[in-house]
Amino acid sequence: MISTSGVLAGEQLRQYEKNGFLFLNDLLAELDLSGVYHDIQLLAGIRDESTVVEVGSGAIRAMHGSHLISEACDRLSKNEKLLAYARSILKTDVYLYQFKINMKAPFVGAVWPWHQDFIFWHHEDGMEEPNAINVVVFLDQVTEFNGPMYLIPQSHASGLIEPISIASQSTEEEGSDWKKDVSADLKYQIPQHMVFELAEAGGIVAPKGGPGSVIFFHSNLVHGSAPNISPYARRIVILTYNSTSNVPPQTGRRRPGFLVNATATPL
Ligand code: SIN
Ligand code: MN
Repeated sequence: MISTSGVLAGEQLRQYEKNGFLFLNDLLAELDLSGVYHDIQLLAGIRDESTVVEVGSGAIRAMHGSHLISEACDRLSKNEKLLAYARSILKTDVYLYQFKINMKAPFVGAVWPWHQDFIFWHHEDGMEEPNAINVVVFLDQVTEFNGPMYLIPQSHASGLIEPISIASQSTEEEGSDWKKDVSADLKYQIPQHMVFELAEAGGIVAPKGGPGSVIFFHSNLVHGSAPNISPYARRIVILTYNSTSNVPPQTGRRRPGFLVNATATPL
């Protein structure tokens, strides 16, 4: 429940702080998503450099920075319900850090190995603190069959976990290093023994629900997802909001603007 001042209910905040995530069924209405479905079809037809495809099938895995070209996606990124939660969880003003649409195509949508997100933002972008939040908006009905996200409750409390080192591959074209940050052979993955320990302590959950359901989750929460062998798509939008007091220094190597917003305009 959001009050008019945008402060989330105490019990929800306690849940978020304890478990590292908060799942709200049907938070958004059809109206909030209207236009997004339409624009996704158009964006999928463009297949520009911000599009990542699945190895083998060539189906679209993810599209990045859609808010920069789609008004409906831009509107979603400024949705007051999402922003009110993000601000009250992070306790500061926020700006949009990343906007991506993960498509998990029927039959061929591939795995997302176990990982934490903050390690990417820290190592690749220089973000100093895990004071950003992921907001996952379901576009399709998410079931046990179409590759729901798996979350390990309370794993955010472990802080940054030393990842397994994935051998770097030299098959990528010049300037596309960032694709290892979103591919099925993800650059920073959690070692299996750590996944085991964390799952023994906190369990594993897979939030399921209809379009408009939303997961808010902590930057250090361990998560992943299984392949989608069902005949149904599992499309989600992941919006990342960063605290305005946690803007990475604008120096050194920068990932493309469609992947990480170049500006930090408070919303
Ligand atoms: C992610 O961790 O960024 C995506 C996971 C998914 O789409 O299942
Ligand atoms: Mn992730």
